[in-house]
Amino acid sequence: MSIIILGIESSCDDTSAAITKDRKILANLIANQHVHKNFGGVVPELASRAHQQNIIPVIDNALSKANIDKKQIGAVAFTNGPGLLGSLLVGTSFAKSFALALGVPLITVNHMHAHILAHFIEDEFEKKIPPFPFLCLTVSGGHTQIVLVKSFYEMEVIGQTIDDAAGEAFDKVAKIMGLPYPGGPLIDQFAKQGNHLAFDFPMPQVEGLNYSFSGLKTSILYFLRDQLKHDPGFIKKHMHDLCASIQYVIVKVLMKKVHAASRQTGIRHIAMAGGVSANSGLRNAFREQRDSGNWEVYIPRFEYCTDNAAMIAISGYFKYLKNDFAPHSTTPFTRYHPGE
Ligand code: KG4
Ligand code: ZN
Repeated sequence: MSIIILGIESSCDDTSAAITKDRKILANLIANQHVHKNFGGVVPELASRAHQQNIIPVIDNALSKANIDKKQIGAVAFTNGPGLLGSLLVGTSFAKSFALALGVPLITVNHMHAHILAHFIEDEFEKKIPPFPFLCLTVSGGHTQIVLVKSFYEMEVIGQTIDDAAGEAFDKVAKIMGLPYPGGPLIDQFAKQGNHLAFDFPMPQVEGLNYSFSGLKTSILYFLRDQLKHDPGFIKKHMHDLCASIQYVIVKVLMKKVHAASRQTGIRHIAMAGGVSANSGLRNAFREQRDSGNWEVYIPRFEYCTDNAAMIAISGYFKYLKNDFAPHSTTPFTRYHPGE
């Protein structure tokens, strides 16, 4: 029998609601918050308030778009972490009350696992799904991980950043260059018109499968500071080449460790997930590996890369199959704990 799930995502600055029927998406709506643009990053207090304002309209619209009556919902799945506590609490409280009112089970979903499980959404355009075990490069604004995915339920982080996340590196460098938040998509856009070999930034050296991005950010900061001393218009003049060179080095760093992880594990099925997997440089680097016959690659559709509730609902579906439900005393968590 089919099951209809309402998924709710509110871990950072996007309020999203999705309705799924088994692995099919009936609706996936996102209310973006624009209040953070002028602050150069997400302001937690403002994010929770905006979630509070957005959550009911977003859910109402998702129900209408899916053409579903709320009585047809069989379970409510929501992100319980990692993320900003105030933001998570809005989704958590709403999900609990809604599940209680409907008399249906409540399902907690780990945001990082959900980014990966987005690959299992049944999609009329993309039929290819990764076979277990596979490796997933999960790159977002808060995390950068290489995950060994053994099943829908078993995931092991085998490499991760020891400081900034890749998305954070994009956003912080963009901020240094005077671009608004989030700068990642803008760097991507400008990079398309630039020469990636125009400027040479050093590759961070970190042991094993781990990453580090804070040194790269500092070296870009010092480089720009020196250039601006001689030419105050330097950034504006070279914006495209700077963006292309910065994106090139970040993608090179990301790919180097995925190659190492693939060699180490012998796994050649490689997926990507998280907001930074929307980056065209990273997507092209994956496609090159596919075209040269090295890897089988799994690249999510754009709408499932950045934060969305479809990935929460689909993850909820897999937990539903195992009757893995949460008690109403459950509370959100802010940091990533593997295995949670
Ligand atoms: O997964 P996500 O939507 O939210 C978190 O869970 O963090 O990821 C957001 C991050 C931001 O840092 C944003 O700048 C980055 O993903 N991002 C990109 C691109 N699109 C989103 N970074 C580089 N190029 C893009 N096209
Ligand atoms: Zn995310």
